[in-house]
Amino acid sequence: MPTSKLWGGRFQESGSAAVDAFGASIEFDQLMATEDLLGSLAHVKMLKKQEIIPANDADQIVAGLHALQDDLAAGKLTFTVANEDIHMNLEALLTEKIGPVAGKLHTARSRNDQVATDFHLYVKERLPKVIAAIKDLQAALVKQAEANVETVMPGYTHLQHAQPISYGHYLMAYFAMLQRDVERFEFNQQHTDLSPLGAAALAGTTFPIDREFTAKELGFAKPYGNSLDAVSDRDFALEFLSNAAILMVHLSRLCEEIILWSSFEFNYLELSDQYSTGSSIMPQKKNPDMAELIRGKSGRIFGNLMGLLTVMKGLPLAYNKDMQEDKEGVFDAVKTIIPALKIMTGMVETATVKKEQMAAATERDFSNATELADYLAVRGVPFRQAHEIVGELVLKGLQTGVTLQEIPLEEYQRILPTIGEDVYHDLQAKVAVARRHSQGGTGFEEVKKQIKAGKKLLEVE
Ligand code: ARG
Repeated sequence: MPTSKLWGGRFQESGSAAVDAFGASIEFDQLMATEDLLGSLAHVKMLKKQEIIPANDADQIVAGLHALQDDLAAGKLTFTVANEDIHMNLEALLTEKIGPVAGKLHTARSRNDQVATDFHLYVKERLPKVIAAIKDLQAALVKQAEANVETVMPGYTHLQHAQPISYGHYLMAYFAMLQRDVERFEFNQQHTDLSPLGAAALAGTTFPIDREFTAKELGFAKPYGNSLDAVSDRDFALEFLSNAAILMVHLSRLCEEIILWSSFEFNYLELSDQYSTGSSIMPQKKNPDMAELIRGKSGRIFGNLMGLLTVMKGLPLAYNKDMQEDKEGVFDAVKTIIPALKIMTGMVETATVKKEQMAAATERDFSNATELADYLAVRGVPFRQAHEIVGELVLKGLQTGVTLQEIPLEEYQRILPTIGEDVYHDLQAKVAVARRHSQGGTGFEEVKKQIKAGKKLLEVE
């Protein structure tokens, strides 16, 4: 007796419940039910058009699939582990609805091209949502940058005061990173926009199918050109996860700074209450939980990428059951990055920038040392020597508590007689920032240019 499975013909014994449960993917691939029904509809329309199955049978199948779409929307479909995955569950449900004619749907198709089609459709549908969420965050950053072109803060290297910068410039650095994220996801769209349908199990089919038709019907740019590649390729998913991982690196770095800067020690930012939490024991606490959680969730995204890379790396062509492991990480990434972007956007929009604290942090900190070295270099002192002279002044200043602005002019003139009063002007943090007008620098005019270009990219005015 064949077993009751859809593939049960050549089997005499059933697997144990443990085997069924271990092999089943229905628990998670039911997320692709919508896509699976769309794929089946395109396929059966093609079978009818090509006269591979009788028109009347095809019409019954189409009606049955539409009824399943309605049931799905109404939350009325129930799936079982016994039917293993979303493909066989939906086929079984179709059979319940329209009888044995449902069996004609799988003509010239395999679960291998079916699952690949569903998965492509799933990612293709989510990519624009991810891109839109990144652009919303970019818009929030530009808005804050615009309000903070002349907000001066310490710029850091090694987390040590380096040179003063514009806070707007800092924000636009993240804008630029996110722009590359957008571009990476857009490139990812090209590789997701291919239809595997019609590759069948691996080798194509003897039936006179029309792959251009199904590709078009499903909104794909074109079919895959090689049937083995079509059912074996998960590059689009790897690319998605890799892009998601890089995106999370950016969000995580921004979060790390938000966390640091909302601390008592830095005090450059205050998060709105909406994006903060309290402590159950310490009444004074206001914790940046959301920023910490986004930073923390980068871990699972990296894990998802590493997981799928590892699944794929040793697989012989074409389909292997290992590939059933391709989906959960991608689903999880979608479920993680879109909300993370939304929270991040709200956090950026509502944070209070403590301009005075930022500016104060540039006051007695020697982050204008490069200014003095440049000043000397412009007056003919070789830069290396200027660096050394200023280094000694900084050392002395640190020991005596005298900043570069406080050194008397006579003392400066002992170093170089051509030093004038204007040195004190150049040593001001705000002036130091404004004067860095090399292209892409932190000078206010350059920051305004970046903002203008950024707004143009986003097409906002
Ligand atoms: N549930 C399977 C998966 O997600 C569908 C493809 C099964 N194909 C096969 N030849 N067993 O990968």
